Amino acid sequence: MYLGIDLGTSGVKLLLIDGDQRVTGVATGPLSVSRPQTGWSEQDPADWLKATRGAMADLARNRDLSAVRGIGLSGQMHGAVVLDDALDVIRPAILWNDSRSYEQAARLDADPDFRAISGNIVFPGFTAPKLVWMAEQEPEHFARIRTVLLPKDYLRLWLTTELVSEMSDAAGTSWLDVGARAWSDRLLDKTGMRRDQMPALIEGNEVSGRLRPGIAAELGLPPGIPVAGGAGDNAATAIGAATVIEGQGFVSLGTSGVLFAATDRYSPRPESAVHTFCHALPGRWQQMGVILSASAAMSWWSTVSGREPADLTAELGPDLRAPGRVSFLPYLSGERTPHNNARARASFHGLSARSDRAQMTQAVMEGVAFAFADSLAALREAGADPRSLLALGGGARSQYWLKAVATALDLPVQLPESGDFGAAFGAARLGLMAATGADPAAICTPPAISAEIRPDPALRDDFAAALERFRALYRG
Ligand code: XUL
Repeated sequence: MYLGIDLGTSGVKLLLIDGDQRVTGVATGPLSVSRPQTGWSEQDPADWLKATRGAMADLARNRDLSAVRGIGLSGQMHGAVVLDDALDVIRPAILWNDSRSYEQAARLDADPDFRAISGNIVFPGFTAPKLVWMAEQEPEHFARIRTVLLPKDYLRLWLTTELVSEMSDAAGTSWLDVGARAWSDRLLDKTGMRRDQMPALIEGNEVSGRLRPGIAAELGLPPGIPVAGGAGDNAATAIGAATVIEGQGFVSLGTSGVLFAATDRYSPRPESAVHTFCHALPGRWQQMGVILSASAAMSWWSTVSGREPADLTAELGPDLRAPGRVSFLPYLSGERTPHNNARARASFHGLSARSDRAQMTQAVMEGVAFAFADSLAALREAGADPRSLLALGGGARSQYWLKAVATALDLPVQLPESGDFGAAFGAARLGLMAATGADPAAICTPPAISAEIRPDPALRDDFAAALERFRALYRG
């Protein structure tokens, strides 16, 4: 058996697979986010350990964990865990969705070296600007930093005593030379950091260390089993969904939305706010468009209209409608790809006295589909070209929404059969690969597909025209 541990923002998820990759156990431990000031988002790393311990105890109640042969880690990206000489936590971790280092990020991003070497815009959520903020606002903390770890790598330290990160998560720090898969001394230096403060780097399917006996005894696991490098959450999801080779992609309709494409070469395009990170397997990269409000847009519309999302979509009937006069820009929390505009805001357009709730629901779903179409265009400019997309996330339960996405993107969208293809499953796969040395191609097999939603040929031109109107509305 192999154990995947996914350190999410709202909880830790554990998932066990057997040697044939059948899921044999799942457990979760809740986490909460502390927001001590507007725009701040923090967690105490001690709570991550507590949540993992709690979930492990649940898993151990129903499963004999002595047969576990490897562990893989995945987690929320970009967070900064700062440790002193005793490897004690100096202050709460600053998370990926914390925007306090807005100014510092803009300053770093204005230095051409950052985009040239890291391949990405320095977004406020990324790690390096957080450290610059700390140097400026909390110099007494900054002076004590022995090392800085990403969230899941702090779990690794606890499990193995090793200070190690892996390429996919390190790519989201703004300190990695993403093409060379190595820390950049130049970028570190520009943020007042040194290479000797950084963890060692390995690939996601390599062994980072071995489970230390004390923790093994406490958690009911065999001592000495390997812990894989693992992956940042989106790369781990891609390993689980078998999105690993050129031409493969997924679209995730979670709270935020991700359009993810696997590539076998480094081809960054920061100017359209595409994220170009290392994939969790050697010699592979990932390109990602991130839209900040996907299901979040429907949740918002559900709250203001006072109807459940399922009731709202039911009002549209089963057949995809041609886009009408009402449009919706889904930028409720700003937008990353392609606009990189934290101040962008959402809006309805084209409302008349005859507009009804169903037309507004339709506009919300189309607006999110068009935002994904913008991300696809940005990915294509960067050289990625997915031929079909696996649909993941809560919003993928709506067939209507998937039809709108398939038609707006003019790409077939495939719905996996019921199963667990989240980041924890990908982490477990990486644990299996590290423990057995198995060929990734043999392990990363695609999930069974329950339905393929094809673009509606009769509505393709209407959607293309509506996409142009959507783009013009943002330009104003
Ligand atoms: C990726 C990103 C999120 C976090 C949190 O760039 O910000 O997906 O990893 O889950």
